Amino acid sequence: MDEIIEGQRLVSPIAWNESESGQDQGQEQNLRPAFMGEYIGQRKVKENLSLFMEAARKRGDSLDHVLLAGPPGLGKTTLAHIIAHEMGTQIHTVTGPNVDKKGDLAAILTNLQPKDVLFIDEVHRLQKSIEEVLYGAMEDYKLDLIMGQGPAARTLRIDLPKFTLVGATTRTGLLSSPLRDRFGVQLRLDFYPVEELEKILFRSSQLLGIQMDSSGANEIATRSRGTPRIANRLLKRVRDYAQVKVFNGSGGVRIDREVAQAALSLFEVDHRGLDPMDRKFLAALIQKFDGGPTGIETLSSVLGEERDTLEDVYEPYLIQEGFLQRTLRGRVATRLAYDHLGEVWQPSV
Ligand SMILES: Nc1ncnc2c1ncn2[C@@H]1O[C@H](COP(=O)(O)OP(=O)(O)OP(=O)(O)O)[C@@H](O)[C@H]1O
Ligand SMILES: [Mg+2]
Repeated sequence: MDEIIEGQRLVSPIAWNESESGQDQGQEQNLRPAFMGEYIGQRKVKENLSLFMEAARKRGDSLDHVLLAGPPGLGKTTLAHIIAHEMGTQIHTVTGPNVDKKGDLAAILTNLQPKDVLFIDEVHRLQKSIEEVLYGAMEDYKLDLIMGQGPAARTLRIDLPKFTLVGATTRTGLLSSPLRDRFGVQLRLDFYPVEELEKILFRSSQLLGIQMDSSGANEIATRSRGTPRIANRLLKRVRDYAQVKVFNGSGGVRIDREVAQAALSLFEVDHRGLDPMDRKFLAALIQKFDGGPTGIETLSSVLGEERDTLEDVYEPYLIQEGFLQRTLRGRVATRLAYDHLGEVWQPSV
């Protein structure tokens, strides 16, 4: 089990490749809703954003800077693109750790048109020095550049167009507070309930020409960890399974509950959406540490996974579903985790 690479888990919410992360024009790009009307769920977020966009449009103004927070694969990049579409402007995308020179940022900022969207993914991973350049750009739409060195150095102040910065982060807690405070709109995406994932699956199956009934959609949705990216990925893999393993006279295959169940158990995604790596996480906690509390660093070394990966990728879903608790003294496996793994529950005294 040690050879599982996070980036290749079937149920990883992290994009596997550039197509899944929206960096190229691949298939996921086609599945990505382009307008607010097609964006399923996250009602509060949609309502808020639509209101602010309409107000900005009425004023002929740019939208205030928007911070989108939430676990991977829930639709942050999608929303950034929707904002640009709905505002009738262009989107320019960069990723926090990839902006490593002030000059690069200056070039991006000075090339923007008024009301354009600058989307900074993983905005919490910007370098401090780059962040500082952003402060003035966000607040006053000014860019202060230092030209030359030593006594001859002078500052050059450049006016920027009124743009909209859309920042995405997996956890708001990772953002420095001066940066966070400069976002006028801060929105949090939550895991999707099963009914919404079913809708997303139906939309995707139509776009991909996949036949599926509601029992099939329900089965995939319940195993998708509340995450649209995982739902879409499971849908494609179940389709592959159906094409190879399910024979019928007409040649057309239809995904129903039975097919989805058979496919997903072959892929070792269980009925709660947990895969071998999640079960390994919970099993380590139960079998090696009597269910915890166990520090995250200890778990990280036992599992051979980075602490950040455990916190961003595994834990949010395990906690939300009640398999795991995060306490001041460490992680604790719940009774549900014991039951799920068929372990005997021993409440600690
Ligand atoms: N509300 C939605 N309705 C329909 N499809 C959605 C929705 N949200 C996300 N998706 C689908 O899920 C995919 C993943 O979404 P997206 O790339 O926007 O996630 P993300 O939050 O940016 O993830 P990451 O943190 O990894 O960058 C999209 O390509 C899209 O197909
Ligand atoms: Mg993204």
